[in-house]
Amino acid sequence: MQVFHHIRSMREALSEVRREGKRIGLVATMGNLHAAHLALVRQAQATCDCVVVSIFVNRLQFGLNEDWDKYPRTLNEDTAKLAAIGCDFLFCPEETEMYPNGMDGQTRVIVPTMTDILCGASRPGHFEGVTTVVAKLFNIIEPDEAVFGIKDFQQLAVIRRMVEDLRFPVQITAGEIVRAEDGLALSSRNSFLDEDERPRASQLYKSLRWVEAQILEGRRDYMTLADEAAEQLEAAGFKVDYMSIRHSRTLMPAAHDDREVTILGAMYTRGARLIDNISMQVPAGTLEE
Ligand code: PAF
Repeated sequence: MQVFHHIRSMREALSEVRREGKRIGLVATMGNLHAAHLALVRQAQATCDCVVVSIFVNRLQFGLNEDWDKYPRTLNEDTAKLAAIGCDFLFCPEETEMYPNGMDGQTRVIVPTMTDILCGASRPGHFEGVTTVVAKLFNIIEPDEAVFGIKDFQQLAVIRRMVEDLRFPVQITAGEIVRAEDGLALSSRNSFLDEDERPRASQLYKSLRWVEAQILEGRRDYMTLADEAAEQLEAAGFKVDYMSIRHSRTLMPAAHDDREVTILGAMYTRGARLIDNISMQVPAGTLEE
């Protein structure tokens, strides 16, 4: 695996690959790679001839009181993991390479409206940081395909929207959520869970599954259902950011007759904010019918 710290050398290597007519895949990450990231890389390898993984802890997408400084940085371990699964290129630039003029005056890419809700409501500016850095990565790497994990459901929707609006010639592919045995979605932030919280943290997934089961049984009182799920999380000792049932594509609150819905949840533990979601097909027919 070749490792690149600079845009110029990264581009040179990729233009060689492109000349050979190879399909280039990108998996953008902030490092601290775990099984879910490696699954995204394997997914990209299945459809691309050359896979680039980027590792960059993007300060622009962290709020002032968030965990940018304590976000786990494990570049040596990450490099070994990627080399072991046959990743072709690792792109890990310094901040000055990605933001040559600093953060304040940085040109930004903004996807309006759908970034103001759910995670965007509690993390103002977060998605603007994500779309700005992902647009930069698309400009640098020019991938044919980019794979993003579905755990960050809203992020994936926002990136798809940016790609559509800005006409980026890249195919966006969703990578499935990888879970621990008790259902907790794998996340770099799980390392912030203390011993006491870790066993209870899977309540987020359990409550999402509970909502899914209730919908399958015919309940369509989505607001009440979400409130009940939030109460379960509170009873397990967590502060709830949101629990919500949304239309899978628009992310608007799900209507009674929507067929494709996603149940999304976000909660605060002592040291982290965890998110998870489940998408489902709503069967016709309700309890009332
Ligand atoms: O999902 C992530 O790890 C980040 O938001 C991303 C897409 C790498 C952008 O920094």
